[in-house]
Amino acid sequence: MARVYNFSAGPATLPLEVLQEAQQDMIDYRGCGMAVMEMSHRGKDYPVIHDQAIADFKELTGIGDDYDVLFIQGGGSMQFAMIPMNFLNAGESADYTNQGTWSGKAYKEALKVAALRGATVNLVADCAKDIPTRMPSQEELKWNAGVKYAHFCTNETISGAQFKTMPATLPGVPVIGDMSSDILSCERDYTKFDMFYAGAQKNLGPAGMAVVAIRKELTEKGNAQIPVMLQYRTHAKENSMFNTPPTYSIYLFGLVMKWIKKMGKENLFKLNAEKAKKIYDVIDSSDFWRGTAKREYRSDMNVTFRLATEELEKKFLDEAKALGMSSLKGHRSVGGIRATIYNAFPMEGVDALVNFMKEFEAKNG
Ligand SMILES: Cc1ncc(COP(=O)(O)O)c(C=O)c1O
Repeated sequence: MARVYNFSAGPATLPLEVLQEAQQDMIDYRGCGMAVMEMSHRGKDYPVIHDQAIADFKELTGIGDDYDVLFIQGGGSMQFAMIPMNFLNAGESADYTNQGTWSGKAYKEALKVAALRGATVNLVADCAKDIPTRMPSQEELKWNAGVKYAHFCTNETISGAQFKTMPATLPGVPVIGDMSSDILSCERDYTKFDMFYAGAQKNLGPAGMAVVAIRKELTEKGNAQIPVMLQYRTHAKENSMFNTPPTYSIYLFGLVMKWIKKMGKENLFKLNAEKAKKIYDVIDSSDFWRGTAKREYRSDMNVTFRLATEELEKKFLDEAKALGMSSLKGHRSVGGIRATIYNAFPMEGVDALVNFMKEFEAKNG
């Protein structure tokens, strides 16, 4: 077997144990005589997988029965549209930050819904174009009282900037977080969020859905006039089985939850911090490397950096690839290098990268 170290930002590497378990289950799931992806979602076996995955996710995030956990197709991007469609009606307003590509996309979708409905979207902070890349500081965030919700992204996957502590928002305003690229990667009080969501293909499993946790109270406030598939209420009422759910993605998500539980989330969080520190230590060791994000906002999930010239970056990427390190190229919109090291990315892969970086600098510095 020749698996590479896959630094892709999503779809991303999955735990080897999870892939092996899925391989074992593939043709005949535990004596059911069929694969999980062949099972009816209304049958006897699939709902057990579905409900266990939800229970494990709730346990790991520490949310209680006052939340619904939903599996909704359309990825993180569908959430950008569904949130304002559900919660932003005529004459109302919502707060957004713009601190990078993803929060910017969420903001633009909200603007579209607001324009159709005669609602308002407030841009609470705008630092998306700043270099080095960063998140807004608490002082910059001028939240508005009386808005329907406040939305921000916890980790900007492309720029490699992350909120190390969650920004404080105004009491009484529901808080919604896009956690697509750092969910379950570090200690966090999830109950501070009235809703949080993540495209599954980064820290949670394969592509095909977003995992959405939403306070039941908020679900009920959703607009009931929009198409049923777009209402959170529909998915909550039917336990994400209003229509056919992405059963295989949910099964794999469940295996990933089991894998985190087995390892212990505290151990995982510690490992994640250690992995990031190893790479940042090399970046900080000389002027050969230039970290892209401001230090206090450096992401532990997406480590972004540049070299002196684009030619040198290309050489770096080519040589890394030849050594079995794939997908280190920065996002096409920004260039540079991006080492994505989500939960499932192994420490050995980080060590391989760090050793390669040191050798590369010795030869080319
Ligand atoms: C932070 C963040 N939010 C949202 C998205 C969009 O997710 P999807 O591709 O599942 O629509 C991404 C994708 O990379 C992301 O990184």
